Formats: sequence, structure tokens, C-alpha cells
Amino acid sequence: MANASSEEQARQQGESDLLSIMLRIRDEGELDFPINTTNIKAVIVDLFTAGTETISTAAEWVMSELIRNPEIMAKVQAEIRQAFNNKDPHEHEAQMDNLRYTRMVIKETLRLHPPVQILLPRLCRATCDIGGFEIVKGTRVIVNSWAMSRSTKYWEDPEEFSPERFVNSVIDYRGAHFEYLPFGSGRRMCPGSGFGVATLESIVYYFDWSLPSGMRPEDLDMRTAIGASARRKIQLQLVASPYEVPVKI
Ligand code: HEM
Repeated sequence: MANASSEEQARQQGESDLLSIMLRIRDEGELDFPINTTNIKAVIVDLFTAGTETISTAAEWVMSELIRNPEIMAKVQAEIRQAFNNKDPHEHEAQMDNLRYTRMVIKETLRLHPPVQILLPRLCRATCDIGGFEIVKGTRVIVNSWAMSRSTKYWEDPEEFSPERFVNSVIDYRGAHFEYLPFGSGRRMCPGSGFGVATLESIVYYFDWSLPSGMRPEDLDMRTAIGASARRKIQLQLVASPYEVPVKI
């Protein structure tokens, strides 16, 4: 990780992109361990492969649930637009803290439709007992996050989309609640969770959304495709109308 002084340096040098920062760190050797061009390429590939399809998949599911639940969509848009006082969200990041309801909607979407349904494989470091089964040291363990977040053992009416279930709940994305692991847990946990959630929060600000003519919310096909990420089987098509910022007199 770059230290505080390298962040300050980036600011002073007007660097606004990750690649320039990594190239400078490579050239100036300011980390405790050296990084070379191959390392930089690996980071870029990681970001593209792990950070694009996941967010677009999640965004499609958030929009699908919002369009199916117009009253929830209205509440989310009102909350976001009020939090940013109708200004550009990118210039007012601090206001993100006020998005309580929106966060619950995103949490609930990631519970019902986790883009990564099966976590990265783990190797068992010591023989242990899980649910009465002996798991021998060295066994490859694959965690089914999707199954846990839809289990009636942990969730009331798990098939229902209900952001309110998180109102008085301490469950969050940080990987400490094993019934809810949309970003995984432990040392292989997703490093892009903060960025992912922040991106999802801004999608409903700029536009009002509706279904193409004649289509009703209940007509939406909610089946999931089989693949590396759990995308919608049928791509979502919506009509976007620019949101008119109210003029203050
Ligand atoms: C809504 C968006 C996202 C979701 C749902 C998601 C989910 C996940 C999950 C479940 C894992 C496996 C964690 C585990 O097995 O414990 C993972 C790993 C990873 N994610 Fe994400 N992710 C998202 C966005 C991003 C973004 C934006 C980036 C980068 C900018 C990113 C980079 C990575 C990387 C590099 C790994 C592998 C970590 C490792 O191997 O140790 N992800 N992600």
C-alpha cells in the first residue's frame, strides 16, 4: 500500500489516475517492497476482470428490483436527491452518509442477487467439523454465498424483496455475518466493495426510469443466467429520462 506521503505527493503532482500513481511508485521505489511493470499489469487486469462485470451485474439487478417496486424507487430517488441537495454527487461525496434507505435497497439486492454466487475457493488449513461433517486438512472448500443469503434458516421470507429487513439489523457487507457474504470474507474478501457500493448509489440520481411502452413491472423476467457472474438471463431494457433539477427561485 502507498503511504500517506505518497497520497499527498499524488495530489501535489495533480495525478488523478491509478496508473500514473503506480508508475511513479515503481520508478521511485517508495514501497517497502519493489513493484515492476508485470505487477502493475496484474493489478490492472484484476481491476478490469473483477471490477466491471460485478458492478454492471449488480446495477442491472438494483434497477430491476427498483422498476418492479415503484414506491421503493420513488423513496430511493427522493433520498438521494435530497442528500445531494440537487447538486452533482461526485462533488458532494460527504453526503453519501445520509443514504440510509438506499443502502438498505442495495444490501437487499445483493442478498437476493449476489453477482458472485460462489466465493473464491479456500483450502482447509486444519481438520475441522462443519455441521457434523469432518473436513480434512487440505480439502478445497467452496462457499455458496447465494444459498446462504436465501436460506429460511437465516432469513424471514427470503425470496421476498424487502429492504426494510435491514432497518434494525447489524448485518453489513464486511464479511463478519456469514449468512450474508456478497463481497466474501476474510483475507480474500473483495477489495472493491466500497467502490462498488458507491457506484451503485449514484445510478438513480441522474435519470428517471420507466419500462418500454406497454410493459408492466410484473412482466419483467427475473431469471438468472448461468455464468461467472450471476447476470440477468434477459438483459434489462429501460427508458431513461433526464432528471430535471428543480430551479430554486
Ligand atoms: C458490486 C460489486 C462487486 C461485488 C458483488 C464483488 C464481489 C466479490 C466477491 C464475492 C469476491 C470473492 C471474495 C471471497 O471469496 O471472499 C470478490 C473478489 C475480488 N474483487 Fe470484487 N466485487 C465487486 C466489485 C469489485 C470491484 C469494483 C473491484 C475492483 C475495483 C473488485 C475487485 C476484486 C478482486 C481483485 C477480488 C479478488 C480478491 C483476492 O483474490 O484476494 N471487486 N469480489
